Amino acid sequence: MVTELTYTEHLFAGTRDELLAKIEKQLKPKRFKHVQRVEQTAIALAQMNDVDVEKASIAGLVHDYAKQRPDEDFIAAIKQYHLNPILLDYGNAIWHGVVGAELIKHELGIYDEDILNAVRHHTTGAIYMSPLEQIIYTADYIEPARDFPGVDDARQLADKNLAKAVAFQAKHTLAYLVENGKTVYPKSIDTYNAWVPRYPNV
Ligand SMILES: [Fe+2]
Ligand SMILES: [Fe+2]
Repeated sequence: MVTELTYTEHLFAGTRDELLAKIEKQLKPKRFKHVQRVEQTAIALAQMNDVDVEKASIAGLVHDYAKQRPDEDFIAAIKQYHLNPILLDYGNAIWHGVVGAELIKHELGIYDEDILNAVRHHTTGAIYMSPLEQIIYTADYIEPARDFPGVDDARQLADKNLAKAVAFQAKHTLAYLVENGKTVYPKSIDTYNAWVPRYPNV
């Protein structure tokens, strides 16, 4: 069932349709569909976990807002908004969350820090994640079009225990990066250490 919310909390100055229109301009059709699936998954997880569904909707829709911006936009934003210059060593995979949150704030006028942190942390996770942050991190991983070995295990965990789903993702993402000789961002290791030993069997 697709939930189309009426926004009432003034987290975004406009309707859901107006937010969708702004996001659609930024994304290719495939990714635009992805963010709508993440939104629906996030709303379902919010309902299950007693989290604000309007925040889940907005965070789900905007989480990849900056994904298709050119590198120059991120580099300019890192300088303009005085973000940690260490970010300049990274690339789109990290920038679209951490720097993307600043673009969302300034271009869409969304200032809710829980929503912005959900965007900032959706790729790497974080040592502390609010319930909304856990929901976006998980929804991005298990949305209905995701198809990788273990995704059904992740979905079943998410239905029962959100924190276990976070631990599952932190563990399996790190294992994937190591097995494939890919860069591991320090924050992903912090996330692993903070979440996985709590649920070592996920
Ligand atoms: Fe993303
Ligand atoms: Fe995503």
